[in-house]
Amino acid sequence: MAEKLRVLFDETDIREAVKRLAAAISKDFDGEEIVFVPILKGSFIFASDLVRQIEGPVIIDFVRAASYGCRTTTCGEVTLTKDLETDISGRNVIIVEDIIDSGLTLRSIRDIFLARNPRSLKICALVDKRARREIEIEGDYVGFTIDDGFIVGYGIDYAELYRNLPAIFVREEE
Ligand code: IMP
Ligand code: MG
Repeated sequence: MAEKLRVLFDETDIREAVKRLAAAISKDFDGEEIVFVPILKGSFIFASDLVRQIEGPVIIDFVRAASYGCRTTTCGEVTLTKDLETDISGRNVIIVEDIIDSGLTLRSIRDIFLARNPRSLKICALVDKRARREIEIEGDYVGFTIDDGFIVGYGIDYAELYRNLPAIFVREEE
């Protein structure tokens, strides 16, 4: 099937969004240490841009979440195939996610982390697909809000491709 990529957010849009998010986070935490937890793989480029603009001490650790048997959508149960190597108890933690879609991935990870008694736990998402939410969960720091559409680029994939594109595109099949 033929496919078309249409620019949704270009490099300038992304740079401005990242700058705004980093400024808001830096202001809220006011020099306190923050543990950033990018969810692999989709948020690796976003997170690398974001943390470079944070003022104050930063620790980075990663998790990888998998929801089996699905391709372009999430199907419920989420497991961590790579867990944290950092003890988050008593620490400020910010989960960094590429996209909040149904919200199921973030809810699972948030609940796993909350059980470890962090001092605070926030969610920073590059893109919020609000209209597709199946459960109640909010991003504390959100770059862009869109209604729907399948996006790729800037770390975000379709079948593992397109992560290297510097902008965010809508992928349309024709
Ligand atoms: P949720 O658990 O339904 O919120 O799914 C979120 C995850 O689904 C994201 O972290 C992405 O990995 C994937 N996802 C959702 N929408 C898209 C998209 O438009 N493009 C690529 N991946 C997506
Ligand atoms: Mg993901």
